[in-house]
Amino acid sequence: MTAQIINGTLLSQQIRADVTQRAKTLTAKGKQPGLAVILVGENPASQVYVRNKVKACEDCGFYSVLENYDATLTESALLAHIDRLNHDPKIHGILVQLPLPSHIDANKVIEAIAAEKDVDGFHISNAGLLMTGQPLFRPCTPYGVMKMLESINYPVRGANAVVVGASNIVGKPQAMLLLQAGATVTICNSKTRDLAAHTRNADILVVATGKRNIVTADMVKPGAAVIDVGMNRDDEGKLCGDVDYLPTKEVAGYITPVPGGVGPMTITMLLVNTIEAAERN
Ligand code: GUN
Repeated sequence: MTAQIINGTLLSQQIRADVTQRAKTLTAKGKQPGLAVILVGENPASQVYVRNKVKACEDCGFYSVLENYDATLTESALLAHIDRLNHDPKIHGILVQLPLPSHIDANKVIEAIAAEKDVDGFHISNAGLLMTGQPLFRPCTPYGVMKMLESINYPVRGANAVVVGASNIVGKPQAMLLLQAGATVTICNSKTRDLAAHTRNADILVVATGKRNIVTADMVKPGAAVIDVGMNRDDEGKLCGDVDYLPTKEVAGYITPVPGGVGPMTITMLLVNTIEAAERN
């Protein structure tokens, strides 16, 4: 069996076309959607991510600002910038790119963002709303994964879903979204004993660890939907995920490639969250 590839680039294009239309409608009413992206320091990967986010906004007709501060920016100065953006009527979404330099408390910064502008969905009140089944913003990467499953009409209800990775950004919110969609969910973490015993039971396997080849073909149930959130470099410096892609493709029923899978969907769902924030405003 060769898996059907879930093309995140194509799905993104379809969703972004709808977002562009909605942005046009809002702009015509004098309410152009606006996103502010804050980057502190010069982490090269973060620089690429934020540039892609701002470019995607521009492509969809959003107003967007990138505020790039020196790594020495103090926590209180960052909090003051967030407060200014919280009160800026042109800004409907605020994103502070993580990780932050170690002298800044990321939790404090996330809690300073107005919950109704927290398009990442990381604010503690948005995490609570998600957990209680009333999400205001779904975190972008897990939201994108759900859209990918929806695009193949995957029957999530009753399925065994295994999430490998338990971060606040991906693993935990992913588990919540799958649970709400009716899956039986297992969250594996770096201490999990016999990871393969869990992954082999998965109808839906979401892998978000940042560890190349943590999932190999022998760990996958034949026919499973394998969603690879990883972003790593192989020995030749080429982008690759957490899943050993080519052999796993011969076992899985569905698989997402890296690049061209979850990556573009993360940015697309940021656009969706931002347009929703603007529409609510
Ligand atoms: N760093 C890695 N992923 C993300 C994300 O989705 N949002 C933010 N703000 N930072 C990140």
